[in-house]
Amino acid sequence: MANFVRRAACNFLNIGSRNFSVSAPRHAKVSVLGAAGGIGQPLSLLLKQSTLISELALYDVANTVGVAADLSHIESAAQVKGYVGDSQLEECLQGSKIVIIPAGVPRKPGMTRDDLFNINAGIAMSLSEAASKVCPDAMLCIISNPVNSTVPIASEVYKKNGVFDPRKLFGVTTLDVVRANTFISELKGTPVTQTQCPVIGGHAGVTILPLLSQVEPSCDFTDQERESLTVRIQNAGTEVVEAKAGGGSATLSMAYAGARFAFALLQAMNGAKNVVECSFVESDVTELQFFSTPLLLGPNGIEANLGMGTLIDFEQEALEKMKPELSGSIAKGIKFANK
Ligand SMILES: NC(=O)c1ccc[n+]([C@@H]2O[C@H](COP(=O)([O-])OP(=O)(O)OC[C@H]3O[C@@H](n4cnc5c(N)ncnc54)[C@H](O)[C@@H]3O)[C@@H](O)[C@H]2O)c1
Repeated sequence: MANFVRRAACNFLNIGSRNFSVSAPRHAKVSVLGAAGGIGQPLSLLLKQSTLISELALYDVANTVGVAADLSHIESAAQVKGYVGDSQLEECLQGSKIVIIPAGVPRKPGMTRDDLFNINAGIAMSLSEAASKVCPDAMLCIISNPVNSTVPIASEVYKKNGVFDPRKLFGVTTLDVVRANTFISELKGTPVTQTQCPVIGGHAGVTILPLLSQVEPSCDFTDQERESLTVRIQNAGTEVVEAKAGGGSATLSMAYAGARFAFALLQAMNGAKNVVECSFVESDVTELQFFSTPLLLGPNGIEANLGMGTLIDFEQEALEKMKPELSGSIAKGIKFANK
């Protein structure tokens, strides 16, 4: 698995210019739930530029009509419509091929992602309940934290409703990969757009594990560099939370990462080959029920889980260290969904 990634879909401006041989679903409807928020708005702006999207359906509990009116003036093909409140959720989701969920509260300084559980678990549950009923075949991409628990919640909802397809449920961990690539490039001088680092595990603190031994182009790290870079990538979200000083967590870089992941899915759904992204999904790579690894994406979602390859001792130890926390977060989500 060493040569694990071709960077999937970052070239936003060229997103419409490729020729794909497979037809469906070339022009897909994409829904964003939580579209008026800090992530939702810039994410919707980036999605509006894709020629692979025919309809952009923006849902939130407030303010989407204005956001949709604003975006609808942009000279790109996707038709934009805003939907507000419970009564319009079903119409928003109808016919969606991809549903992206950045709804929920973000962290403030001093908070962990798990501190968001009490509010965001219920939001993830009700939105995935709606998606499982209205568009069960859509790819469901969950950004709302704690991802380590909200993804298991959604899987339980889909299972209860008899529509769970593990190839189509994703926890969006792309921002960890984006950060790893950026920080490695800064440290080692590798070209940033060609630097590729797999990040495995989950999406919180020590559960985030960048595989620096598998970076491409390959780099040598001293023990101290490996240790401090790993910790920086694990705590990068907190870096932003502290810099924003009460103003929320990462929104712009998350919007970029969310769009990168959505574009990768759209390209794969349209028949592009070798589309690989890391994501937190149902997995048998370890004993943990959900785990992020590089995934080969195809027309129906996950085509193959590429696993984590050979870890060096430092990574193996970090993997063992993360397991209790990740396992606890997964169990917490499953318990919540079944209470
Ligand atoms: N996966 C990641 O890497 C990552 C990175 C950064 C942030 N996040 C998470 O993304 C989430 C959103 O962050 P943000 O900064 O955009 O927050 P925000 O508060 O700016 O926006 C959240 C939006 O969700 C909406 N919302 C709340 N309840 C809703 C519901 N039931 N249905 C639809 N919309 C609802 C709010 O009205 C708001 O517009 C947070 O949970 C945050 O922790 C994840």
